[in-house]
Amino acid sequence: MSDVQPPRILIVDDDQGIRFFLEEALSRENYQLTLASSAAEAIRLAETTQYDIALLDFKVPGMNGLDLMERLKGMIPNLIVLIITAFGSRDLVREAMNRGAYDFFTKPIDIHDLRFILRRAVDKYVLLRENRTLKKTLEYKSPFPEIIGNSPAMHGLFEKLEKVAKADVDILITGESGTGKELVADVIYHHSARAGGPFVKVNCAAIPDTLLESELFGHEKGAFTGAEKLKIGKFERANHGMILLDEITEMNGFMQGKLLRVIQERTIERLGGNTPIKLDFRMLAATNRDLFTAVQEERFREDLFYRLNVVPIHIPPLRERREDIVPLANHFLRQYCARFGKHILCLSPEAETMLEGYAFPGNVRQLENMIQHAVVLSDGPELETKNLQFFEPRQERPIPNGNPLPPADTIDSAVGKVERDMIVQALQAVKGRRQEAAAYLNISRKSLYNKMKKYGLMDG
Ligand SMILES: Nc1ncnc2c1ncn2[C@@H]1O[C@H](COP(=O)(O)OP(=O)(O)OP(=O)(O)O)[C@@H](O)[C@H]1O
Ligand SMILES: [Mg+2]
Repeated sequence: MSDVQPPRILIVDDDQGIRFFLEEALSRENYQLTLASSAAEAIRLAETTQYDIALLDFKVPGMNGLDLMERLKGMIPNLIVLIITAFGSRDLVREAMNRGAYDFFTKPIDIHDLRFILRRAVDKYVLLRENRTLKKTLEYKSPFPEIIGNSPAMHGLFEKLEKVAKADVDILITGESGTGKELVADVIYHHSARAGGPFVKVNCAAIPDTLLESELFGHEKGAFTGAEKLKIGKFERANHGMILLDEITEMNGFMQGKLLRVIQERTIERLGGNTPIKLDFRMLAATNRDLFTAVQEERFREDLFYRLNVVPIHIPPLRERREDIVPLANHFLRQYCARFGKHILCLSPEAETMLEGYAFPGNVRQLENMIQHAVVLSDGPELETKNLQFFEPRQERPIPNGNPLPPADTIDSAVGKVERDMIVQALQAVKGRRQEAAAYLNISRKSLYNKMKKYGLMDG
């Protein structure tokens, strides 16, 4: 009991004397008491707080006591309800118990009875909490313990991963930003026959077009001005292992063409060299873009798309697999508690409900950041909603009709100002994480990077 938060008890009685009596009688016990004098008030309170135990007077104004019980249980499924009735209403008591009340006591209330019955209810509450935690722990069975997920969508993903991880095929991993593409790539590597070999990762969005070619293929000494030494490229480094080409949609058309040949022929040439080098690698490609649309808009070569899309793995956004939110949150809770030396046992029921209802535009990464942040702020024993920071993507953009913009000389400079403001706001909202800001603004990370440079928003 000591490390579980004191049970939250809601007392509903219209008789002020009884409320006063109960409050006095229970004030020295380790309970959090809330008092309500009507059914409407009780319902309003239950909307924001998940009480553990409710003491309901049978005859509260506004609603029949049994209906109120059912209403509250509908809102809080684990609620333990104790009924307060007048002496001699045995039929009512029987009906209440049949409909799910846990126990009852009669007026005038005997203080010893009250304490005894409440303690039994609290024991039941502790048991329920323990069961809940246990159930959650048991739910995490997965063939890939590194990947948390218990939704049908993730089960499907695990099945597919089990089939393809060991097969030596190239794989395309798609999914919104923060859904776990890199994690899946790591898992494929660790479960593959190439696990002992090199695993080389290239983020195509982080490397300027002009450098990407020599990064990937390397160059001979003297291949171009500045090429003072021989450089071994990423493909060569991945020989007998794997290469992950991340954010593959950010490659320009020329590189897409070169890549297609490399994938088909498994041969590269260093820049400035003319000897083909035969290589043995397995390629994983990832993107948070819709490749199909990119093909239709002629930003991505169709032939390369079909070559990559032979074995696609799609990771759905978190909002389409809400069952995974709480297990993931608990996973990050344990991880960050261990890292920061904190003892937070679990999420409060309200925190769970709130997280489950949130859309997570930044997906698992956003959830991870949120929990990390909350762990730092919390003292336990539960992680509470007040420490969770939600970032709502705004539906409406600010429209400058009140004209807060200074007069601009040209359309370009006006557009630039709006664009800069939007970038600053997005960056502030996501605490400077460029990947998330880019996702929020629906532009590529590279394009965000270029715009930040253009508007002087880079640090240093
Ligand atoms: N199912 C999961 N179980 C455990 N951790 C996860 C899961 N999915 C994602 N994560 C964690 O969330 C974070 C973001 O995941 P990751 O970097 O793989 O996303 P991504 O899809 O590559 O994002 P981006 O498109 O922005 O590069 C990582 O810390 C990762 O370990
Ligand atoms: Mg990634």
